[in-house]
Amino acid sequence: MEYKKTIVITGGAGFIGSHVVRLFVNKYPEYKVINLDKLTYAGNLANLKDVENKPNYRFVKMDICDFDAFLSLMRSEHVDGIIHLAAESHVDRSIKDPFTFARTNVMGTLSLLQAAKLYWESLPEKYDNKMFYHISTDEVYGALEMTHPEGVESPFTTAASSQHHHAYGETFFVETTKYNPHSPYSASKASSDHFVRAFHDTYGMPTIVTNCSNNYGPFQFPEKLIPLFINNIRQRKPLPVYGKGENVRDWLYVEDHARAIDLIFHKGKVAETYNIGGFNEWKNIDIIKVVINTVDRLLGREPGEDMNLITFVTDRLGHDARYAIDSRKLQRELGWEPSLQFEEGIEKTVKWYLENQEWMNNITSGDYEKYYDDMYKNR
Ligand code: NAD
Ligand code: DAU
Repeated sequence: MEYKKTIVITGGAGFIGSHVVRLFVNKYPEYKVINLDKLTYAGNLANLKDVENKPNYRFVKMDICDFDAFLSLMRSEHVDGIIHLAAESHVDRSIKDPFTFARTNVMGTLSLLQAAKLYWESLPEKYDNKMFYHISTDEVYGALEMTHPEGVESPFTTAASSQHHHAYGETFFVETTKYNPHSPYSASKASSDHFVRAFHDTYGMPTIVTNCSNNYGPFQFPEKLIPLFINNIRQRKPLPVYGKGENVRDWLYVEDHARAIDLIFHKGKVAETYNIGGFNEWKNIDIIKVVINTVDRLLGREPGEDMNLITFVTDRLGHDARYAIDSRKLQRELGWEPSLQFEEGIEKTVKWYLENQEWMNNITSGDYEKYYDDMYKNR
């Protein structure tokens, strides 16, 4: 079949990438969707079982740092668009091993950009109808001040505004907020964002960068707060809360992020930046209590009976106090809003993890055990 477009989605076997691949494969049978992934510890093809036999889906196991292999793929598949999610994504790992983050996030992104440039510039139409869309994070902006530690009413409303609708400070990340990354992870993402913008400004490559807040939902690797805690509560293991649990994050359901990526890939303006967020700030300790109550209730336990698992541990080094995204540009210009109330999103998420125990068991066997011991036992 002749496809209308061929798109490479990097990191498609990871958490967010698998939701983006699923959305594109199902929604656009006229596109060929190539999932390019190295399958690191975080990549898992079981995340895509439901689409693996679709005719418009292809999986390619490749390292984004392999410039020659990627250039050949661009040429042989006549790639029109790249949605780039592949990255090392966990802050705690970046604190232990920053080199891997520089290699994948910085050099890997540069390698994709340079190969895309060579291929697209060799075509008669050059950059027409081409797109390099880079998925970044709100962490590149640094940390916001917590001027309202008890929370005040949020200045933003959305159709899905949650009952809990607090802001913990006066300021929010906007697209023009100066970059000020603090962790090796966010420094590597910031660097990759700069390279993407440089390829637009220098060579005229059509690029877009989006910076999103914390995602949650099915298929997230259980080193991240929400799946780790769901899994531990189920097994009645301690819940390692960093510092006092007062840090604030802005949470977005992963399918809402995937919807935003689809919209921006098709309707976003070249060279623009869009912030994506949930208008949904939570202190860690409050979100942890919601997760405990939800897991307990769904397991038929007394809600709150597992609060005693909360264990305050040594804080993360350089732990950013507060992230909060102002995504009104995306709302105003492209009409995107989060669709789920947080209460609905967390219910769906906890149910999914409890019903997909086999997925969790497969991931948490083997290397994970060692990672878990190293990361948490001596904290
Ligand atoms: P993840 O860790 O779950 O998945 C990353 C994927 O990239 C994995 O499938 C992995 O195998 C693949 N990968 C890693 N190194 C690779 C390499 N060298 N070559 C090819 N593939 C490689 O990550 P995620 O949470 O889904 O995040 C995806 C992207 O979104 C990242 O760029 C991250 O910075 C960004 N982001 C994440 C969040 C979040 O809350 N998770 C929020 C905002 C932005
Ligand atoms: O803001 C977007 C970012 O969100 C993404 O760019 C990252 O890829 C993604 O991992 C996420 O980063 P965080 O560091 O915010 O997520 P994490 O789930 O690791 O931690 C969320 C908060 O919970 C953070 O304040 C640290 C705290 N925490 C985390 C873990 C894993 C704990 O207190 N205990 C834990 O065991």
